[in-house]
Amino acid sequence: MTAAIADLPLIASGKVREMYDLGDRILMVASDRISTYDVVHPNPIPDKGKVLTGLSAFWFAKTGHIVANHLISSTDGVPDEARGRAMVVRKLDMLPVECVVRGYITGSGWKDYQATGKVSGIELPAGLQESERLPQPIFTPSTKAEVGHDEAIDFEQTVELIGDRELAERVRDMSLAVYGAVADFARERGVILADTKFEFGLDESGELVLGDEVCTPDSSRFWPADEYEPGRGQPSFDKQYVRDWASGTGWDKSPPAPPIPDDVVAATRERYVTAYERLAGEPFSAWLERTGA
Ligand SMILES: Nc1ncnc2c1ncn2[C@@H]1O[C@H](COP(=O)(O)OP(=O)(O)O)[C@@H](O)[C@H]1O
Ligand SMILES: [Mg+2]
Repeated sequence: MTAAIADLPLIASGKVREMYDLGDRILMVASDRISTYDVVHPNPIPDKGKVLTGLSAFWFAKTGHIVANHLISSTDGVPDEARGRAMVVRKLDMLPVECVVRGYITGSGWKDYQATGKVSGIELPAGLQESERLPQPIFTPSTKAEVGHDEAIDFEQTVELIGDRELAERVRDMSLAVYGAVADFARERGVILADTKFEFGLDESGELVLGDEVCTPDSSRFWPADEYEPGRGQPSFDKQYVRDWASGTGWDKSPPAPPIPDDVVAATRERYVTAYERLAGEPFSAWLERTGA
């Protein structure tokens, strides 16, 4: 018998996900909430939680040979009311670092590069243009702020936060390896994975495990390859569209976030579903059917 969500103890509620206790496991439920600049907007993006869950499940399956991950099942043990947007996962002790990998220079990386020539302490070639492809993907971690904004840190600070150099190296290497595999796969489907963010944890035996979400439109920048052109911002199938709208409103990025107008909600939903369909190579309805959503 699968329990109803209301009967499960709530462990934590993040900006997007609720985590419920299943004993030695966790039920991770993705909502349709959306945040920009670390503030959640008052209205949801319909189906977003299902897109994030479906794409994460897709990438966990594609990268399981590179590093262990927390996914146990996206069907067995999932309550009816959460079907399609929940996963039963292994309970991890999360490392206090956001494992960002960049293959292209954009966003906060572009800002830091323009100001200092570096990102997370890594010196980059002079004269890069906005959105340009980097000579090789780089690991540019940040802190995991409980409240407010994450801060870029260099590798030595990462070692300090993780408390173990060898483990920090493994986290870096696995981040780069998973990015590489997903980026290669996405490229075959006409999508550039410009950058992404991973979160890792340790299981009870101390093994490094990839957790959270993987290469979703919330955690990544996806650019249509056929429209790619360095020297400007890129069209994208991800949250960037909402960030651009949000900054265009003149909102000062402190709470509360403004409500998202209906047309922006619809265009965002469209982008998220397109990301799923282009990358997973199947209609979004296939995910809904497989999970009984
Ligand atoms: N397997 C796991 N075990 C324990 N915690 C996890 C696991 N996977 C992800 N988490 C944590 O659960 C939370 C996910 O909820 P989310 O809404 O994305 O939070 P946030 O607002 O911090 O992004 C994150 O804090 C993440 O570190
Ligand atoms: Mg998160």
